[in-house]
Amino acid sequence: MKIPRTAIEVIQPTQVIEGAGVLLRRSIAPSRENRFDPFLLFDHFAFNDPIEGPLVGFPMHPHRGIETVTYMLEGSVHHRDSLGNSGLIGPGDVQWMTSGSGILHEELPRRSPQGNVFGFQLWVNLPAARKMGQPRYQEVSADSIPILERDGASIRIVAGEFNAVEGPVTEIAANPIYMDVNLSSGSSFRMPTPREHTTLAYVFSGQGDFGIGENGEGHLAEAVCMVVFSEGDYLQVNTTADSHVRFMLIAGAPFQEEIVPYGPFVMNTPAEIQQALEDLRKGTFVKS
Ligand code: FE2
Repeated sequence: MKIPRTAIEVIQPTQVIEGAGVLLRRSIAPSRENRFDPFLLFDHFAFNDPIEGPLVGFPMHPHRGIETVTYMLEGSVHHRDSLGNSGLIGPGDVQWMTSGSGILHEELPRRSPQGNVFGFQLWVNLPAARKMGQPRYQEVSADSIPILERDGASIRIVAGEFNAVEGPVTEIAANPIYMDVNLSSGSSFRMPTPREHTTLAYVFSGQGDFGIGENGEGHLAEAVCMVVFSEGDYLQVNTTADSHVRFMLIAGAPFQEEIVPYGPFVMNTPAEIQQALEDLRKGTFVKS
């Protein structure tokens, strides 16, 4: 019998300031409890008003042991790193960055012509065996992300598969599902998910009933919030006749390893964090 996922927790994002004064809505953050294994952090950056100040962004900083996934909907992020890569992550584009043993990079948001910046950054953990691997980028332009239109749903598939349509981001340790799901009013969305995958939905527009169970009922979640689901074989979300809903669907296989987070590093032991700090001091952080 197929088990439905139900909503077990709703997280209201908190406002935090990061980088050089960037205002963010943060739903989850790295911690040793690792409750959302393999996911470590989810940030939503939205600047719609000049009173939020100049956009300085995130000047040069290191990462080790994680993947950072940037998805922009409006505005862009200019990116440059220690491996000599640089580019612009524009509206609808995704950058899936596997830091492995280490990169140093800067991420500078730029406003759209309308003055807005709107995007998300997800951090995905790496298992111990891959934490010191080669850094790798998957840069995905908006036009190479497939859009599945079906029964009132419009689904941009970044990673994972739905209805035989596969996202362009592949070979990620957590075997993730990452999709931008837009449901029109009066529709029903049902998607199979591997039973043990940690599954989250970040609701950023409208409202819907999340985690419809066998009794036909779900949890009404309204933008902006993060819904956490129980284990199960599928996720169902319904909308009523009066509202659409749009959310990022995030799912991945937990690694079930101890983690030690320290700022932009997430390793498995305190000694590995010490090593990262020492490598930075000695200028040996970037391996290739
Ligand atoms: Fe970064």
